Amino acid sequence: MARVFSGVQPSGTLHLGNYLGAFRQWVAMQEEFDCFYCVVDLHSLTVEQDPAELRRKTIETAAGFLAVGVDPGRSTLFVQSHVHEHAELAWLMESTIAFGELSRMTQFKEKSAGKASVRASLFTYPALMAADILLYDTDRVPVGDDQRQHIELTRDAAIRFNGRYGETFVVPEAVLPAHAARVMDLQQPRNKMSKSESSPQGTIDLVDPPEAISQKVRRAVTDTDGSLRYDPSAKPGLSNLIELLASVSGRSIEEITSSYSQYGPLKADLADALVAALAPVRERYGQLMADPAELSALLEQGAEKAAAVAAKTLARAKDAVGLLPRA
Ligand code: TYM
Repeated sequence: MARVFSGVQPSGTLHLGNYLGAFRQWVAMQEEFDCFYCVVDLHSLTVEQDPAELRRKTIETAAGFLAVGVDPGRSTLFVQSHVHEHAELAWLMESTIAFGELSRMTQFKEKSAGKASVRASLFTYPALMAADILLYDTDRVPVGDDQRQHIELTRDAAIRFNGRYGETFVVPEAVLPAHAARVMDLQQPRNKMSKSESSPQGTIDLVDPPEAISQKVRRAVTDTDGSLRYDPSAKPGLSNLIELLASVSGRSIEEITSSYSQYGPLKADLADALVAALAPVRERYGQLMADPAELSALLEQGAEKAAAVAAKTLARAKDAVGLLPRA
């Protein structure tokens, strides 16, 4: 069975971008593939985190996975730092990927711009991400558009490593959703919806109550020219809403643009569709967070399964580069 791997950082509240960009694909892929889904807590350390808060968010993020429909009976769900092979293979990836390649990563440029001090791990982050993926002999990586460049780098690293040391890694490919691969902020529609940078009114959280979802959609920034068409560069706000409706309703962009003539009714239908999709997620999340011990037990089982796979790949890679095995 083909293998799937993906991850989410536990560094904020899960939002609609995570849901439409990644989670919905994760859930669908469980039907066909052997899936590994990871709370990538080591990645969060690339920027400042409060220790107690990081622990809390790690559990919350795992609850989010289950709340959206990841089934622990079929998929392996775990925390990155519980499987030490990730950090170890990351070193081999840092020794495969070039400084110049890391310097070209747009996320690094964006996140480091204007900062007085930047952690070295923010720079080497894509090497850790490559390790995450390659450890599981991953065929497919379901992600949003912002991760595309990191997956390209992972592919390059795998191909280079295999070329230099012999076939060791599976070369993975990114899988992006047909719509909403890049969900934009509802208030600043030229910016990506993001847990760290968006405004609260511009971001729909996975656990927002229905009234908050409806209000945020109603107040979403559009434009004043009044023509209902899909045109992301000239009409980013409206185009984002159209994409969101296409993604949650399964309707095509053309069908949507031809069936509305005003923004108000489109917003109303989008609000209803989002509320219908997210209300069960919110309810399940509440139930799951009521029993964190159960979640910890699931994560422990997941770590055990993940480590068994990861240990084999790491051993293969260490052997390939010439590290002397223990006697
Ligand atoms: P993270 O935690 O920022 O986001 C998790 C997932 O959500 C997607 N996403 C979005 N999709 C559409 N529109 C948006 N506005 C939006 N915001 C976020 C992301 O594309 C991602 O799929 N580096 C990764 C985590 C990671 C990873 C991995 C992913 C670490 N190792 C290995 C895949 C495989 C990240 O920071 O995602």
